[in-house]
Amino acid sequence: MYVIDSTGRPSATDMPVRRLGLGDLRDCLLLAIDRQWLPEEAKWRLLFEVGEVYGIDDPCGGLAGTVVLARYGRDLGAVSMVLVATRYGRMGLGRRLMLHVLDRAGDATVFLSATEYGRGLYQKLGFRAVGEIVTHIGHLRPEPEDFKHDGLRPARDADLAAIRGLDAHASGAPRADLITRLSSIAEQTRVAERGGEVVGFGAAWRNVDNVVVGPVIADSTAMARGLIAGLASELHGPVRLDLGAGEAGLSGWAAARGMPPAFTTTLMTRGGPLPGARARIYAPVMLALG
Ligand SMILES: CC(C)(COP(=O)(O)OP(=O)(O)OC[C@H]1O[C@@H](n2cnc3c(N)ncnc32)[C@H](O)[C@@H]1OP(=O)(O)O)[C@@H](O)C(=O)NCCC(=O)NCCS
Repeated sequence: MYVIDSTGRPSATDMPVRRLGLGDLRDCLLLAIDRQWLPEEAKWRLLFEVGEVYGIDDPCGGLAGTVVLARYGRDLGAVSMVLVATRYGRMGLGRRLMLHVLDRAGDATVFLSATEYGRGLYQKLGFRAVGEIVTHIGHLRPEPEDFKHDGLRPARDADLAAIRGLDAHASGAPRADLITRLSSIAEQTRVAERGGEVVGFGAAWRNVDNVVVGPVIADSTAMARGLIAGLASELHGPVRLDLGAGEAGLSGWAAARGMPPAFTTTLMTRGGPLPGARARIYAPVMLALG
């Protein structure tokens, strides 16, 4: 039973948050479209697999809002897909969804990448900005010099343990589940080998209208560039790359090779700094997961 307010809509305070399942995927995509986001089915499917998806039902049908929490062990969590239907905007649902996942996350450090629309809300909830992420999109056209780094090759099944280890070290969190699932949707995975040991890797997975190159974990900009160039040269269609703004060398290179900056988001954290050897993460799996 919902109380109908003066606008003719149910009162927002009566609309409970519930855990969503794959059966709600279509409504998640429709909600994204309502906010002019793309219906990113592959991404939502991965988020349902590795994260907890929560939502608020619109009593008139469909979803009024969503939020996703992906936990990496007890100490770290990524929040994403904070979406409230335009017809329910500025009624407190975004705040309620965020409070719900923060409660679920407990004492863990939580991070997200904020659009300009969400930043004010997250600041009020105790998040602080720790960096900018510049998203480049375009047709990457590598030059021969980009492939010169030694030891670059396609990944083999036997590399998975080393890849998981590199990700765990760089992200400072147990993400074996995510990396294993990613390997099943990735179109390409390449590694950098030195002295018989895998010391870097990059993957590419297909989203709606581009192929996302991420994650890219390397111990130098030259290695990251070689991994990205190798991945992109095997891909069809536009490529997307989310780069930390501190990575000026890589950002300038991507722009010079046909991938100009498309938009910027703000990396925000709550409850402490991000763990791990973050300087090695040149690009995340996706903004939603870090
Ligand atoms: C961002 C979004 C989720 C906010 O949801 P919402 O339900 O409208 O937000 P709320 O009503 O809970 O507002 C929460 C607080 O943020 C403030 N706020 C909301 N939208 C704001 C905006 N665009 N600019 C500044 N402050 C804003 C509200 O004033 C409120 O403050 P208060 O708690 O002190 O009253 C919603 O606008 C949305 O889905 N936007 C498009 C998708 C998007 O960009 N999501 C963020 C991804 S990082």
